[in-house]
Amino acid sequence: MNILVTGGAGFIGRWVVKQLLGKHHHVTVLDDLSNGRKSNLDEFKNNPFLRKFVEGDIKDEHLLKDLFEKGDFSICYHLGASINVQDSIDDPYTTFYNDVVGTFQVLEQCRKNDVKMVFMSSCMVYDRCTDINGITERHPTKPASPYAASKIAAENMALSYFYSYDLPVVVVRPFNTYGPFQKTGGEGGVVAIFIQNKLKGKTLNIYGDGTQTRDLLYVEDCANFVVQAGFSENVNGEVVNAGLGRDISINELAKVIGTDEKEIKHVKHIHPQSEIQKLLCNYEKATNLLNWKPKVNLEEGIKRTEQWIKEGHLN
Ligand SMILES: NC(=O)c1ccc[n+]([C@@H]2O[C@H](COP(=O)([O-])OP(=O)(O)OC[C@H]3O[C@@H](n4cnc5c(N)ncnc54)[C@H](O)[C@@H]3O)[C@@H](O)[C@H]2O)c1
Repeated sequence: MNILVTGGAGFIGRWVVKQLLGKHHHVTVLDDLSNGRKSNLDEFKNNPFLRKFVEGDIKDEHLLKDLFEKGDFSICYHLGASINVQDSIDDPYTTFYNDVVGTFQVLEQCRKNDVKMVFMSSCMVYDRCTDINGITERHPTKPASPYAASKIAAENMALSYFYSYDLPVVVVRPFNTYGPFQKTGGEGGVVAIFIQNKLKGKTLNIYGDGTQTRDLLYVEDCANFVVQAGFSENVNGEVVNAGLGRDISINELAKVIGTDEKEIKHVKHIHPQSEIQKLLCNYEKATNLLNWKPKVNLEEGIKRTEQWIKEGHLN
């Protein structure tokens, strides 16, 4: 199949591209490199299935029109977005335009060219977890930040195209994702930041009291889930979670990574009002509809990430 991956030069995007190329699909990548890197795709430089890398903006209507008309795509994995919660509070304009308006422009081309869209949302749309069984897709959402609000808005636009135009659309909500190729900024980047600081013997700053929890998903499991959602008709018109099904407090995470306790400092949260105290995923629906389950546990994922950082890739 011919497939478009927006944000394909980013952290998760490059793993989605890798899996699609591994299945011998013809992949086109669109990324404006505002946070991604062309070098994230170096591994596939000589892969004949990588059709094209296009450096461009998802808000550029003309570029999109041309790309879709020539691309003959069957699926669009739409990952291109501004991803940082804290930045979205400081600069809501950029997040809104990229994540809402940009998604609308991509959706319009999907509608006109009859292309399935896999819309990459996030667990950050949810209110804090209060159920021991974790957050299901029926759990209340809460626009705790402009990032969350933008994802909720874009999800609804995407689903409206399913209801109004019968366009195959699926909304995926991965929980905080980590692993090789992640930068040290942004949500989920916490694993990369902690490992890097440990290796350098640097002080580790934890926002607030560190009791907030995250459900951390290893990036290859995340990419596998996202890719599968594109090929399954079962999930069209659905919202589907993916996570590890285990949450860990940030204090505990520092211990698992092996940070010296003396190096941990609790600092004032930049935007405490947008912190989600507990995030724990219930991925039963992904198992039922996609037969998906995470394969990499936290300890193994941390080991793989540490190995990658030790090889000097982050600097
Ligand atoms: N990292 C996580 O924990 C996590 C969890 C759930 C969902 N997500 C979502 O997954 C997607 C990928 O996130 P990531 O962590 O790989 O971040 P990332 O920043 O590495 O990937 C996003 C990519 O989109 C590109 N981009 C941004 N604005 C663009 C624009 N206007 N036009 C074209 N390209 C643009 C960036 O350059 C970047 O390469 C995002 O939609 C994010 O919201 C991330």
